[in-house]
Amino acid sequence: MRDNLQLRLLAAQAVAREAGAMARRRFQDQAPLHVSFKGRQEHVTDVDCAVEALIIERLRSVFPDDQFLGEESGGQNHDRLWVIDPIDGTANYVRGISHFSVSIAYISGNAVQVGVVYAPIADELFSAAAGSGAWLDGKAIHVSAVANLAEAYIEIGWNLKDRVTEYCNTIQKAAGQGAAIIRAGSAALSLAHVAMGRIDGYCEQHVYAWDALAGILLVREAGGKTNPFLNTSTLIAGNAILAAPPGLIEALSNVSGISAE
Ligand code: IPD
Ligand code: CA
Ligand code: CA
Ligand code: CA
Repeated sequence: MRDNLQLRLLAAQAVAREAGAMARRRFQDQAPLHVSFKGRQEHVTDVDCAVEALIIERLRSVFPDDQFLGEESGGQNHDRLWVIDPIDGTANYVRGISHFSVSIAYISGNAVQVGVVYAPIADELFSAAAGSGAWLDGKAIHVSAVANLAEAYIEIGWNLKDRVTEYCNTIQKAAGQGAAIIRAGSAALSLAHVAMGRIDGYCEQHVYAWDALAGILLVREAGGKTNPFLNTSTLIAGNAILAAPPGLIEALSNVSGISAE
C-alpha cells in the first residue's frame, strides 16, 4: 500500500472512532436533539452537523491540500477528495434505533482508495484500502458464499426520492424467489454487513456518494461485486447501488433492474 494511503487509512479510522464517540454520547444522553427537516422524512440534527465539522477539521489538519464533500456541508467534485456521511441512518438515530454509522471514504483518480464505516453502538470499525483487503477491527472479512436468492438475506433500501413502483417490484420479485428482505436504514452500515457476510446483498435505486463509497470499497475488498457507481454518475448526483457476492450479483441485478456493469 502506498504510504500516503496507509496514513489516510489510519487517519480515517481514528477520526471515525472519535466522531462515532461524539454521536454515541448524544445518542445515549437524555438531553433532546435539535431536529429539523431537509425534506419529507429527511431529518437532520445538530449532531449530524457537529460530527461532520469535527471530521473535516481533523482530516484537514493532517491533509491541508485535500478537499471535502460532506452530506451536511456540501462540496465539489475534486481529485484527492474525502467523502463523508457523519451519521448514516439519521432517521434511526433520532428514534433511538442503534443501526447508524459514520462513513468516510477517500477517492483519488476517480476510484475509492480508503473506506471506513464505524458503528458507534456496536463499537465496530470496518475498514478497507484499495488492493489491501477489508477488515472488521483488524480481522479480515469476506462476503458470504450465498449464490441464490432462495437462501439469501438481502436489504432493499428505499427513500422517498425513489419510485414506489420500482421498489415494490423489486420486493415482489426477490420475495417471489424466496429471498428474506429487510430495510434497516443505514446504507453504509448495511454495505459493511454485506462485506462481512452478515447479509448477502444490498440494493437501492438511488443513494449519494457519501452513503455508498466507503461501503462499496468494503464489499469489493471483501471479495464481493458492486455496480460501477462512480463510472456512471457524477459524484454529486449519486447513483443506484447494487452489492453482493459474485454468485448473487446477477440475480440481484435482475430483480432490482440495476445493472451490475
Ligand atoms: C440514508 C440511509 C438510508 C438510505 C437512504 C439514505 P441518511 O442516509 O442511508 O438507509 O436508504 O437512501 O439517504 O440520510 O440517514 O444519512
Ligand atoms: Ca440525510
Ligand atoms: Ca446517508
Ligand atoms: Ca447522513
